[in-house]
This record gives sequence, structure tokens and C-alpha cells, in this order.
Amino acid sequence: MGKTIVFANQKGGVGKTTTTVNVGSYMAAEGKKVLLVDFDPQGNLSSSVGCSHKQEGIYEVITSKVKIEDVIRTTDQENLSIITSNLNLSGATIELVDIEGREYILKKALASVKDLYDYILIDCPPSLGVLTLNGFVASDFVIVPLQCEFFALEGFISMLFQTVKRIQQTVNKKLKIAGIVFTMYDSRTRLSNEVIHKVKATFASHPEILFQTIIPRNIKLTEAPSHGVPINLYDNNCVGAKSYHKLTLEVIERV
Ligand SMILES: Nc1ncnc2c1ncn2[C@@H]1O[C@H](COP(=O)(O)OP(=O)(O)O)[C@@H](O)[C@H]1O
Ligand SMILES: [Mg+2]
Repeated sequence: MGKTIVFANQKGGVGKTTTTVNVGSYMAAEGKKVLLVDFDPQGNLSSSVGCSHKQEGIYEVITSKVKIEDVIRTTDQENLSIITSNLNLSGATIELVDIEGREYILKKALASVKDLYDYILIDCPPSLGVLTLNGFVASDFVIVPLQCEFFALEGFISMLFQTVKRIQQTVNKKLKIAGIVFTMYDSRTRLSNEVIHKVKATFASHPEILFQTIIPRNIKLTEAPSHGVPINLYDNNCVGAKSYHKLTLEVIERV
């Protein structure tokens, strides 16, 4: 049975999209059938695999304008497909507000293809609004990318986990936290090490929530999206690639 994983964090620029595309492509390289879902109106996940974010995509699916089968697109990576996003999706935030069962729309849209894939990975916008809520409801697991260069951690983490808890108690009882992954780690900065230390202390009673693999800051990870390919097709030997490969094996083991 296919498993759906949502990558969520209410802050932007923390590595959600980078983690979604690269975990997806290493899963595909491991022979898994993977569907990426770009659920951020900005469409960065779409462009990260070389797809236009100006074509029909997930917005047109959730508003029943197109059939989901007609907007699943292949990528340069074998086994890796994507449903792209476009700016229309930002309107959905407002359009969905008055609709009954608005938090189930993505789940319903994906239901007919869920079992065609080993993994469906959903990339969310930087908020805990209705789009991310749909991501949580559609998923079996949540992965939280956490940037190692960020101060006001505590309130931030507790808000995120309260949201997940509320979802688990209401609209998606089977949602599990697969883990938190540290991103953009720079061993030379005190801040990076402090953040890791602090988060480890916060989760001292259940350390398994943290993935062992830490993603370092690596320029190649920044460059790959502008070439429209995941890191394994850009430079499979760089430290960023090796880290995402390791993380992917951990994810496959956990979910
Ligand atoms: N480990 C990393 N090392 C260097 N640059 C990174 C790394 N992870 C992400 N980036 C870059 O940082 C920016 C924000 O990352 P992104 O994945 O788009 O975050 P989000 O989706 O949370 O907004 C992008 O330009 C991305 O290429
Ligand atoms: Mg993003």
C-alpha cells in the first residue's frame, strides 16, 4: 500500500522543498515508485525537477477542472513523477474557506492514485493554513525540516507540534511524525551547534524523533534546482547528495 508523507514547517526557506525533491529522487533511485505533489503556489518543487509551474496542476485537480491522471508528469529521474503547482493555488486558500470538508480535498483528490505509488510526497507552503492542513490530512507521516540557523525555536516548535497533535485528535487520527531533520548545518557556526543542542534537549525524552542524518549547508544543493534536476542527477558525489541519500534510507526504514 502506498504511503503519503507531508513535508511541513510554517517557516519559509528551511529546506522543505529541497528535502522533498531529494528524498523523492533517492527513493526513486532505490527503485520505489514516487509521486511528488507540489502544494505550494510558488511552484518551487515543480521547477526543481525541471517542470513549468505555469501549467495545469494540483489546483485544477482539487477544483475538479482536470482529472488527476492528466496532470501527472514524468521527470528526468526514472520512477519519479510530479503533479505541478501554479499561482492559481494561492486563490484556493480563499476559495476553500467556505467549503464544507475543505480539509479533505487533497486527500480525496489523491485517493484514486495512492496505491499506484510506493510513496507520495507533498511539499507545503510556509504556513499552517488551509493548504498545509490539507497536506496533513492527506498524509500518513509528517517530516519536519528544521533549519540549523534559527533562533526563536521553542515557541515555533511547540506551535507546530500542537498543530500536529490537534490534527491527530480530529481530522487525521493515523498521522504519525516520521521525524525532524536538521538542514543547512554549518559546523563552523556556533549557532548551528547551539540549535542542534537545544532541539536535542527539547526532545530528550524521545530522541528517536530526530533523524540521525543531518543535512549540511552545501552550495550544490542550491545550484541543482536552477538546472531543474535533483541533486543525484546534478552531482551525486557531493556532500549534500550523500547526506540526502543517507536520510532517504532512514526515511524508508521508518515509514
Ligand atoms: N542544505 C542546503 N545547503 C545549501 N542551500 C540549501 C540547502 N537546503 C536548501 N537550500 C537553499 O535554501 C533555499 C531555501 O530552501 P527551500 O528548500 O526552498 O526551503 P523551503 O521550501 O522551506 O522554503 C533554496 O534556495 C535552497 O536551494
Ligand atoms: Mg518550498
